[in-house]
Amino acid sequence: MKSSASIAMGKTSNPNQLQRLGILLSGRGSNFLAIARNIRENKLPNVEIAVVISNVADAAGLSAAKDLGLPTALYVSKGRPRADHDQDLIACLRGHKVDLVCLAGYMRLLSPEFIAAFPNRILNIHPSLLPAFPGLDAQQQAFDYGVKVAGCTAHFVDEHLDHGAIILQRAIPVLESDDAHSLASRILVEEHIAYSEAIARVASGEYEIQGRRYLQRANA
Ligand code: GRF
Repeated sequence: MKSSASIAMGKTSNPNQLQRLGILLSGRGSNFLAIARNIRENKLPNVEIAVVISNVADAAGLSAAKDLGLPTALYVSKGRPRADHDQDLIACLRGHKVDLVCLAGYMRLLSPEFIAAFPNRILNIHPSLLPAFPGLDAQQQAFDYGVKVAGCTAHFVDEHLDHGAIILQRAIPVLESDDAHSLASRILVEEHIAYSEAIARVASGEYEIQGRRYLQRANA
């Protein structure tokens, strides 16, 4: 039986209004760049990137964002209490009027305060078919386990690791010729498709979350 208390609705009141993305990253930024490319090519018509934030000074994704002329911010997290660092992020994201926070290889756990600041508005891409293989080195975990099907998951972020409601998944076969590296490369291709698709779906506002189930409404 469905509990109405567990239903969350998409929050886009005006679908013609651009949804402003805040991207959080720590490294190479290929998922961020795929999103940026899809926006540039009008494949993500109702979103724009408001700011790209890194917690690592020499993150390649941060330089790439600067090269694209996007607003960027650097908040080095190393050695700082999580709550203090996250307060800076919250202020920065609010200052840029961000609607959706997209984790794109952001290698730091978020505080409960951060999650609460953007309820059902934080997305992540993870390189496994969750709930299998959460955490680090998911592709290596999947390869070592000997799975025959691997993939990626775009999901909402909650207070538990790689755990929030699943928006969509893309699966690929694990080939006999694969090693963990080739498998990760092929999963990454799927991530670049899946993340933009998930952002488009959420940005449409045409969805409900019932319990753990993300349900797209028909006219999205
Ligand atoms: C991706 O594999 C993503 O699934 C995981 O971190 C990696 C980030 O890669 N969360 P990139 O920085 O987007 O290239």
